[in-house]
Amino acid sequence: MTSSSHSRVAPASLPEPERRGSPLSFNRAIRSFVEKRFFRNLISRTGNFSRTKWLGIHIRQNVMDLWTIQETIAELKPDVIVETGTLEGGSSLFYAHLFDLMGTAGKILTIDIQKQHNVSHPRVTYLVGSSTDAGTIEQVRKFVAGAKTVLVILDSDHHREHVKKELDLYAEFVTPGSYMLCQDGVMDVMPKLRYPDGDGPLPAIQDFVKEHPEFQVDHERCERFILTHHPMGWLYRKPV
Ligand SMILES: C[S@@+](CC[C@H](N)C(=O)[O-])C[C@H]1O[C@@H](n2cnc3c(N)ncnc32)[C@H](O)[C@@H]1O
Repeated sequence: MTSSSHSRVAPASLPEPERRGSPLSFNRAIRSFVEKRFFRNLISRTGNFSRTKWLGIHIRQNVMDLWTIQETIAELKPDVIVETGTLEGGSSLFYAHLFDLMGTAGKILTIDIQKQHNVSHPRVTYLVGSSTDAGTIEQVRKFVAGAKTVLVILDSDHHREHVKKELDLYAEFVTPGSYMLCQDGVMDVMPKLRYPDGDGPLPAIQDFVKEHPEFQVDHERCERFILTHHPMGWLYRKPV
């Protein structure tokens, strides 16, 4: 066998369309290149969504991910959303306005280690404290008591160790059939967004899923609009 004929032989384990040099794998490579390029530009142009606003209030969210959150809230109609990471209050206000529009009785508990806003809304309770402190967890437990559907959104300190603690502690509040959204795993896949001092949420999610068979990653929801800040972020709690 000559070397040129050898180079045309694809590994037997790959299905036909995946063979190197096939039009399909070429299209896939181009698509992946364009998506990554566009995502990098989007993040750079928006200052990683640091200037995005909801009705004039800063909301640090990728707008495509926000749409997925909106769809999930409309689907689940949760009684309670627990959010860690309030910052300027934009995300909790957005969730409160969705409840207003849906006309349900939903309420939100949002937790931050410091108060950095002047926002208020009758549906939102603002709790100041670390999300992983025993006292905070006790207050969350009281807040969700009796709720039929609880959605948890983790968006505080994104260091791996903190995220893993949050995942472990907040798992109990997620009602079967609902979700825990662990935000910003993107920082582990996009070098510019990495913490200089360690890993972010993605390895924490991977560890969590291995240890918690009652949860599974909803990949369709994660990749709904292709470009997401929350790879592997939508964790579905299986019905009992
Ligand atoms: C990414 S921001 C939250 C953005 C907000 N959810 C939004 O969409 O606009 C992260 C927030 O987490 C808070 N934070 C950091 N460490 C925390 C901790 N241990 N417990 C609770 N909040 C924490 C920070 O003060 C910061 O306001």
